[in-house]
Amino acid sequence: MPKQFIDQYGRILNYLRLSVTDRCNFRCYYCMPEEGIDFVDRKQLLSYEELQFLLEIFTEYGVNKLRITGGEPFVRRGLVEFLGRISQLDGLSEMAITTNGSLSFSQIDALADMGIRSINISLDSLDKKRFFEITRRDKFDEVFSAILYMIDRGFEVKLNAVIADNKNTQDILPFVELTKHHCVSVRFLEEMPFNGTGTFEVPTWNHVVIKKHVLSHYPTMRRLPDEANSTSVNYQIPGYKGTFGIIASYSRTFCGTCNRLRLSATGELRTCLYGAPALNLRDLLRSGANRDEVIQELQRAVCKKEKDGFEAESIVAQTPKKSMSFLGG
Ligand code: GTP
Ligand code: 5AD
Ligand code: SF4
Repeated sequence: MPKQFIDQYGRILNYLRLSVTDRCNFRCYYCMPEEGIDFVDRKQLLSYEELQFLLEIFTEYGVNKLRITGGEPFVRRGLVEFLGRISQLDGLSEMAITTNGSLSFSQIDALADMGIRSINISLDSLDKKRFFEITRRDKFDEVFSAILYMIDRGFEVKLNAVIADNKNTQDILPFVELTKHHCVSVRFLEEMPFNGTGTFEVPTWNHVVIKKHVLSHYPTMRRLPDEANSTSVNYQIPGYKGTFGIIASYSRTFCGTCNRLRLSATGELRTCLYGAPALNLRDLLRSGANRDEVIQELQRAVCKKEKDGFEAESIVAQTPKKSMSFLGG
């Protein structure tokens, strides 16, 4: 029997999204309020040593894709050195990062040197003013130049734009146009109920509306073949260098092929983004559990992975008040 994490529906869970911090230097409206956020104490975070110990187990049990998330991962000190160490782990075939683009050219160079090929960046507008309104930070030029540098260095670059009424729907077509000359994949996302305030309105610009809007301006857009376990349905305008995709993150159309596990910076293991933590690995480690005990608890937890995000959400009592910055996306 190969060592694998398999859930009750037979899905093989080989993709771990690891959040290394709940902190962020931006304040995107869909992720957290502008003020009054309680970030966790640094001692509550899994240390790099604890993370390495856990990652050795995950990779031994078939996790071959790792995505580093935050908050903003690069606000955690020592991240690049940590990534350098874990990039050597046996069994890891893909290591990727999701960032808000707050990283320096030298950090980008270091990522390339350790073999990281894929970077996803949150970018919700191509307009400086709207970027500021959405992120509450005046960092458009910095982020956009980092993006251009990454494309230039040959990274597979995906841009994530959370689309919402009265925020950035006017950016959809310019984003599609950006793919004309740039080898980049832009993904349009539905907003999810993780803004840390407990208030949420079901997105009117859902995946169907977004697709219709683009199609009405680009009738020649063509669908690309689906990648395995993809969250996005992807398209290309004939003759354009890049591609674009739509992620039905609120409509949750892709749960059937979900291969993801999530580990928060404080050790909460989630088997679904919409669900409650299944296990706290930090507490388990700090209670003195040995490697075999950790593996046993992990097997028990992953096997109960929820059928889909609707089932997971229905188990969590109220509208989740968590911030995406804590959940890790
Ligand atoms: P790749 O396919 O590896 O490029 O990653 P990704 O698209 O999953 O990663 P990224 O961090 O860029 O996330 C893009 C959006 O998809 C974010 O809003 C995620 O929260 C959302 N997403 C990723 N996984 C899931 C999931 O399991 N469920 C839901 N509902 N949304 C998800
Ligand atoms: N709804 C949808 N997407 C979100 N992201 C962060 N918060 C939300 C939310 N409430 C996206 C960001 C980031 C990715 C990991 O998750 O665009 O790129
Ligand atoms: Fe920061 Fe990302 Fe949350 Fe924006 S979505 S505030 S960039 S963690």
